[in-house]
Amino acid sequence: MTLLIQQGRIIDGTDDRVADVYVEGETITRIADRIDPASVPDAEIIDASGKYVFPGFVDPHVHIHLPFMGTNAIDDHASATKAALVGGTTSLIEMICPGPDDEPKAAFDEWMALAQAGACCDFSFHLSVVRFDELAQAQLRELVEAGDVASFKVFLAYKGALDLPDEHLLSLMEMARELGVIITAHCENADAIDTMQKQLIAEGKTGPQWHEPSRPRSVEAGGVRHLCAFAQQTGAHVYIVHTSCEEAVEQANAARAMGVNVFVEAVAPHLVLDKSYAQRGDFEGAKYVMSPPLRDASEPPQLWQALAAGDMVSIGTDHAPFNFSGQKDMGRDAFTLIPNGIPGVQERVDLVHTFGVCAGRIDLATMVNACSVQPAKIFGMYPRKGAIAEGSDADLVVYDPTFTGTFSVADGLSQVDYCGYEGMERRGRAEVVMLRGHVVARSGAYVGGEGGGRSIPRSLTH
Ligand code: URP
Ligand code: ZN
Ligand code: ZN
Repeated sequence: MTLLIQQGRIIDGTDDRVADVYVEGETITRIADRIDPASVPDAEIIDASGKYVFPGFVDPHVHIHLPFMGTNAIDDHASATKAALVGGTTSLIEMICPGPDDEPKAAFDEWMALAQAGACCDFSFHLSVVRFDELAQAQLRELVEAGDVASFKVFLAYKGALDLPDEHLLSLMEMARELGVIITAHCENADAIDTMQKQLIAEGKTGPQWHEPSRPRSVEAGGVRHLCAFAQQTGAHVYIVHTSCEEAVEQANAARAMGVNVFVEAVAPHLVLDKSYAQRGDFEGAKYVMSPPLRDASEPPQLWQALAAGDMVSIGTDHAPFNFSGQKDMGRDAFTLIPNGIPGVQERVDLVHTFGVCAGRIDLATMVNACSVQPAKIFGMYPRKGAIAEGSDADLVVYDPTFTGTFSVADGLSQVDYCGYEGMERRGRAEVVMLRGHVVARSGAYVGGEGGGRSIPRSLTH
């Protein structure tokens, strides 16, 4: 199987030029100003003139199998990965989130089996460390040494469920430094949030609009400072996930200035939405409960600026799909019982194009860097993923920047029953999506087969 993608504007984060791309099997084998179609007579021709050609997008922060807050996220690997592919995301990194009593190896095996059975796009994992006894330590080492795991995840939130006490966090970071594993971290403060939640509920403040006041910016910024202090002490490299506010970004900047290796992730909801959505009446606000929470409307412009300046380097989704009906509404009497999360694995690229590039907040190179190149580099997949280069996997997106429409749940391949961006203007669409040389999506429709996603080999780059 060969493909010739003709005369698209290739934008891969560093290069920006019109050229042809030739794909043999699963691999990009030639890039040239012009490739004579007569020289590759068997190739399927894809006309990309007037379109962008991007490297397949990499989502560094996705939840699919997620037992959480008394329920399970509603997608399975087939639905979430088809949604990803239709939106131009050809690789994703899923968070393995075991319970506090689960063994890391069993958790890894469980998530891997589910992904291998159902995933249609390529995938990898961040392994959440929620216990750190001797058995867990031994298994974590084995998983890294076997090449199965190259990034850990820690939670400084969700008291009693996922949070890791400081003594374990510090030891884990020492181990990570020794092994060359990067630590991804949800930075808040589980105890402070627990206290504030109890106070608000006792005062009768039970609606979704009270979620943000229960975990203010200072708590998130304090979490970043705390993690970075441990990173400074241990030398571990850290990646702050779903950073919602300038105050938290500033803490990371300050740590970086002191020599800490810290990367900061934005996620689509914090870039596009604000806390007024969580204040919507009729319990609609529950659709917008995530952690860290949506902030004041003054924050998204600052996050875009941080991306443009390079203070934030990647954009994920934090896709965490819980139905409004039957799941979010478990928290009608108390916002603390609303499963946290907003779906978006399908919408990410178009949101960034619409509200970032078309709005003049970031340029195309920054978009590609944040949504593909940097996640691939930071997590040891580059240049197999995140690159348009000879020898790279032929994960390619022919993108139509002139498409206009609106975001809607009706177009979603996720199983979730709402779209957080319903009715918002949409500019741009993945017209042809290729995963390792196979066309898997066209103009919003999934045209690939069942399964076929592969675990992505990763190097330890930290
Ligand atoms: O609200 C969120 N972000 N839900 C998913 C779990 C997490 O914290 O990433
Ligand atoms: Zn989180
Ligand atoms: Zn998450």
